[in-house]
Amino acid sequence: MRTIGVVTSGGDAPGMNAAIRAVTRLACYHGLIVLGFERGWEGLIKNNFRRLDSRSVGGIIQLGGTILRTSRCPEFRTREGIKRAAENLTSNGVDGLVVIGGEGSFRGALELSRETDTLIAGVPATIDNDVYGTDETIGFDTAVNTAVAEIDKIRDTAFSHERIFIVEVMGRKRGFLALTVGLTVGAEVILVPEVPIKLDEIFEIVKENTAKGKRSGIIVAAEGIGDTRMLAEEIERNTGAEVRLSIVGYAQRGGSPTARSRLLACLFAEEAVRLLLDEAGNRVVGLQNGAITSMDLETACGNIKPLNIELLKLARVLST
Ligand code: F6P
Repeated sequence: MRTIGVVTSGGDAPGMNAAIRAVTRLACYHGLIVLGFERGWEGLIKNNFRRLDSRSVGGIIQLGGTILRTSRCPEFRTREGIKRAAENLTSNGVDGLVVIGGEGSFRGALELSRETDTLIAGVPATIDNDVYGTDETIGFDTAVNTAVAEIDKIRDTAFSHERIFIVEVMGRKRGFLALTVGLTVGAEVILVPEVPIKLDEIFEIVKENTAKGKRSGIIVAAEGIGDTRMLAEEIERNTGAEVRLSIVGYAQRGGSPTARSRLLACLFAEEAVRLLLDEAGNRVVGLQNGAITSMDLETACGNIKPLNIELLKLARVLST
């Protein structure tokens, strides 16, 4: 192992910069050359990279986004695109590649691993927290805290105006973000794609709460459940409550990473570089029951991370 590449791919997540910094400094410490590929997979296809060293990653641990930039790259879904990326890795003598990204990025990495001898180490970074094989991804904690801070403010208006607020959070097709946010803001209802709830059930909870004297409430909805605007209208029509919708949106993707997101970035980077130094590639690092671990890329891509449904029940009891 003489040269490694590092790339951030897919949606940006707070803590990606902390991961780039840690990978680069650890690799330099071990005498490796580090190439940072720009704009995700696009950089590998177009052969756009810059040499990184310990100094070029200074002052970024606290920054959101990614200094290498990122993109959604449709060309990488084609065989031709993957082949070109593989050729560029070979022509630049890249022995190992650290891929910092989410589920989609690892699926791309798996395809790439079939076309190249370059060893790949995946570092899970996505606000969605939907990567199999890790209890938590870089950026998730930051996104949770961003949404929680927003909802705490919304509660003031909900209370003052005696309204129900539906707050939509991100998460793509999964409910990890909504579940943790919902539990930690004390939401009366949490809606996730994994556990569809009938509209009547939601109306019932709202009516019950009103009868109990609760005159305001928060419903946290994952974006993956569908049309939240229509849901707000339906609840208003069927319960008589005044309902507003607030979408947290891309603010969840940005901002300075929390200490927790930075810590995961440091620990995941250490494991990724160690794997490559040991010539043990095509693996994704992760956190399992408090320990830093790794699993092969194929297993990580071939499985769906389960959502802890018990937490939904807990949230329900705690909001009564
Ligand atoms: O994967 C992160 C994420 O923010 C999802 O929560 C969201 O569904 C998606 O990316 C949005 O993608 P884009 O940045 O392409 O609009």
